Amino acid sequence: MAEAFLTAQELHKSFNEHKAVDGVSFTIYKGEIFGLLGPNGAGKTTTIRMLSTVLEPDSGDVTIGGYSVRRDANAVRSLIGFWPQELALYEELSAFDNLVFFGRMVGLDGKEARAQAAARLELLGLAQRAKGRVDKFSGGMKRRVNLAVSLMGHPELLFMDEPTVGIDPQSRNNIYDTIEGLRDKGMTILYTTHYMEEANRLCDRVAIMDGGRIIAMDTPRELRSQIGPPDQVTLEDVFLRLTGRSLRD
Ligand SMILES: Nc1ncnc2c1ncn2[C@@H]1O[C@H](COP(=O)(O)OP(=O)(O)O)[C@@H](O)[C@H]1O
Ligand SMILES: [Mg+2]
Repeated sequence: MAEAFLTAQELHKSFNEHKAVDGVSFTIYKGEIFGLLGPNGAGKTTTIRMLSTVLEPDSGDVTIGGYSVRRDANAVRSLIGFWPQELALYEELSAFDNLVFFGRMVGLDGKEARAQAAARLELLGLAQRAKGRVDKFSGGMKRRVNLAVSLMGHPELLFMDEPTVGIDPQSRNNIYDTIEGLRDKGMTILYTTHYMEEANRLCDRVAIMDGGRIIAMDTPRELRSQIGPPDQVTLEDVFLRLTGRSLRD
């Protein structure tokens, strides 16, 4: 039996009167890629912000590695990495210096920060550009540096919020390979997307969200098999069947 690493229980969050997240519960097992899938406005980002201690739930709780985001937020933060959609880099510093800086921020000593920085840049295919200033990098390369930053300090669980929105196909494939490589090394990953094909390819299990709720949760294949021969239907078809709407905006 797989070991639960993250458990979300009855999460609620409203903005004004609007229920952005309306009673969300799920478990993520150690070493899996778990996808939160749903159209824009479904509540994916609000959920991931609560899981990662950025936003306090109105009610409900999350435990990660046995620690509560409400009572032990600092312990939770030491277990997680967050790959934000927006860039969070010092443009005038080199890729290497950015990584060392953020490594020091998560408490690494200088030697360890430099060692991890070099290893992360190697992992993401950026070793040749380690000393290059970030403001000279392409958008896709900056995203990869950002991912390298989120891996400093060896997080056990990595959050990614729509990591492939608006990037070129080459960087997108590099990101897919990286995510799979991290999972193969034992990392647990929570990933949001509104791209059905991407979730189908990458995720071990997915939760489909709509209107702040989870409307289905299982392996992509099992979800597909519930509406037809799994090799002939897509997760897009599953969403359409469940909601009567197409997932595309
Ligand atoms: N800070 C906020 N203030 C007000 N409304 C918000 C805020 N964040 C999200 N919302 C609303 O909550 C709902 C869910 O948003 P979000 O979690 O960003 O969805 P997703 O990431 O799936 O696109 C949307 O209707 C959005 O407009
Ligand atoms: Mg979002």
